[in-house]
This record gives sequence, structure tokens and C-alpha cells, in this order.
Amino acid sequence: MEIQDIIKEKIEIINSGLFEYMKHQDLLQGSIFDAMSYSLFAGGKRLRPIIMLLVCDMLGGNEKEALPFACALEMIHTYSLIHDDLPAMDNDDLRRGKPTNHKVFGEALAILAGDSLLNMAFEITSSAETKAPKKTLRAIKELSRASGALGMIGGQVIDIESENKEISHDVLLKLHSLKTGAIIRAAGIIGAVLSGASEEEIKAVDGFCLNLGLAFQIQDDILDVSGNEETLGKPIGSDIENHKTTFVTLFGLEKAKEEVGLYTEKAVSSLSIFKDKAKNLISLAYYLINRSF
Ligand code: IPE
Ligand code: IPE
Ligand code: MG
Ligand code: MG
Ligand code: MG
Repeated sequence: MEIQDIIKEKIEIINSGLFEYMKHQDLLQGSIFDAMSYSLFAGGKRLRPIIMLLVCDMLGGNEKEALPFACALEMIHTYSLIHDDLPAMDNDDLRRGKPTNHKVFGEALAILAGDSLLNMAFEITSSAETKAPKKTLRAIKELSRASGALGMIGGQVIDIESENKEISHDVLLKLHSLKTGAIIRAAGIIGAVLSGASEEEIKAVDGFCLNLGLAFQIQDDILDVSGNEETLGKPIGSDIENHKTTFVTLFGLEKAKEEVGLYTEKAVSSLSIFKDKAKNLISLAYYLINRSF
């Protein structure tokens, strides 16, 4: 099966899971579900849950058991995007091809929709039936750590505090590996933990995700300069407007593109212990190099 078809198949599984969680009764506070659903179903690539499910497939895990975690990760990612777009952060008007959450629902509801998605992620992962409570607990710990001040939020803090400043390559690497890398690493680690992987296997998957996360964010920096708003679904030039240091401002477009290739190769070689079983994850990594969305 081609990687594009595998991606399509996984997206369907993830979307139907998310849809179930977003069903709600007629509540007085129903507008919060409208705001959450608006961003959740605006059409993201679902990269993080796809990685989790592919890791699970590779290691012979149970996809059904992983699904609440895959959905939770997408909820946390979507919350991070809603908040990232707020006027106090990147102040962007377009996301996933639609007006940003705060443009439609107002800032207050956008903040609350983000908060609710984060909470729901922990509600669904801790409510899921499990035959292996130890693995589930470790997975929840990985999820919370990756989302917090030592993970994605930490990266967002460095990002915001680095605006209007020249930062070094090392600081930029740290920033990218936290703001984007942490959640992508959690996708792999959780997929591996839930599948009963050994520590060596978890480490190998983590190496893949860490490098893929860097390649992915460098490509995001590139697309912010050279992408097409309609294809990308978000504004071009946001980083320049916010005076961010990116791989493009540090190294230029050509060298940044080379870095995407280099980190992708590093990611792929991290999977060598899995031999042929890693073929879908490897295809995904190469597929992402040329993405325009
Ligand atoms: C955007 O992530 C934010 C980054 C961490 C680069 P994606 O490019 O995965 O966004 P969606 O989920 O497809 O909208
Ligand atoms: C955001 O990075 C990463 C998050 C944690 C949301 P960016 O600010 O570069 O993401 P985009 O370009 O707005 O999607
Ligand atoms: Mg940002
Ligand atoms: Mg942004
Ligand atoms: Mg960006």
C-alpha cells in the first residue's frame, strides 16, 4: 500500500475517534464544544496520531487501545495551535484554511476551547479501558510531560522570549525540539510503550521522532517564507512579522532545505533495528520532506 493511502486510512480512524469524543448533549455551555470541534475538524494533517498508530503497527500493538491516546495527542496539538494563534502569541488570522478560533468565537472562548481540549485529553486517556494499567499510566505521564513546561509549553516560552532577538543555532534547536519535537516524540514513545516495546525499542523510536520533529519544524519555517497560503492553510510571513529567528533567517532557504534532508536521514537511520518492519514510518518521513501543506 502507498503511504498516501495508509495516511488516508489512519486519518479516517482518528477522525471517527475524535468525532465520538466531541458528541455532547444539549448543554447550556454547548458553545465550548462548537469552538473545540471547529478547530479539531478544520482539517489538520493528523501527523502526530498517525505516527503513534504506525509505531503501534510496527511493534504489533493494539490500535484500538492506542486510539484514545492518538486522539488525545491531536486534542493537545489542536489546543496548542488555538493558543499559538492568539493575539498575545503569534496573532494569526488563518489556521487549517479557516479563520482562527479567536476570530470566530472571540478570545475568551478560544482560550477556554484550548483549555478544554487539554483537559479532555487527560479525561479520555485515563478513562480508557486497559488490561495493562502500568503501561497506561506511563503513557499518560509521557503525554503530560511532553505537553508541559518541560515540553511543548517550554518551547513556546523560549519562542516568545526569543522574538526580536538574535538567538544561536543551539538555542533554536532547543526551541524547535521542545515546541514541536516534544509532542512528536510523545507520539512515538506512547505508541511504543502501549505496544509493550523494550527500552531499546522505545529509544530507537524516540530517536526517529526527535529528528523527524526537527525536520518537520525546519520545513514549517521554510513554508512560512516560501509556501502558498491556500495550500498551507495558514498565513505566509508570520515569522518575519513576529521577528522570530528560524532556520531560514539563520541559514537561508537552501541550507535550511538541506537540514530538512539531513534530519530526515538521521530519523530514518534511528529505525535500523526494526529492519523491514519500519517501512511505513520511513515512507512517512520521506513523504514529509516534500510537503507543501
Ligand atoms: C503546525 O503543525 C505547528 C507546528 C508544530 C509546526 P502541523 O503542520 O502539524 O499542523 P496541522 O495539524 O496539520 O494543522
Ligand atoms: C508552533 O510553532 C508550535 C506549537 C506548539 C503550536 P509555529 O508558531 O511555527 O506554528 P505555526 O507556523 O503557527 O503553525
Ligand atoms: Mg508560534
Ligand atoms: Mg504560529
Ligand atoms: Mg511556523
